Amino acid sequence: AFRLSKVLQLTLAVIKPDAVAHPLILEALHEKILENNFIIVRRKDLVWKKEQSETFYAEHSGRFFYQRLVEFMSSGPMRAYVLARDDAIHHWREMMGPTKVFRARHTSPDTIRGQFGLTDTRNTTHGSDSVESAHKEIKFFFPDFCIDRWMNEDEPSFR
Ligand code: TYD
Ligand code: MG
Repeated sequence: AFRLSKVLQLTLAVIKPDAVAHPLILEALHEKILENNFIIVRRKDLVWKKEQSETFYAEHSGRFFYQRLVEFMSSGPMRAYVLARDDAIHHWREMMGPTKVFRARHTSPDTIRGQFGLTDTRNTTHGSDSVESAHKEIKFFFPDFCIDRWMNEDEPSFR
């Protein structure tokens, strides 16, 4: 049987408050998503309460940057996307570049963070790092979106 999940992988991509604050950067990132053959499955603009920020980044609690990160991610509007393409998780992370802005600017100036990153915290974008985290993060941002249904709902027409 045809399986959409053999062709397309989903990832969660987020444009962080530093980039959403600049309409031209937001627009450039949106274009970049389309130019790189991603399908925009869902899109949402939102602002996190501090508790949502803490929950999403709970795995980093205790790290030296945690408070700063949590404050920043709840400081203003973000744009979240569910994106689909082959190898979506890997491709989006490649496009983002390294987490740390110094490395991004010096070793990967043509990546999103290399081009637009301000600091290690205000680093422009988020991307899921595995299939498990993609599923978890998509659920966190889009609780009404059912991955299984999206992958399978029109399967009968392909038989
Ligand atoms: P991490 O998951 O290590 O990076 P990535 O976003 O590339 O998956 O860290 C999550 C976020 O935490 C990162 O995007 C920005 C913030 N952060 C800092 O503020 N300072 C740091 O030194 C690190 C490693 C991360
Ligand atoms: Mg990460």
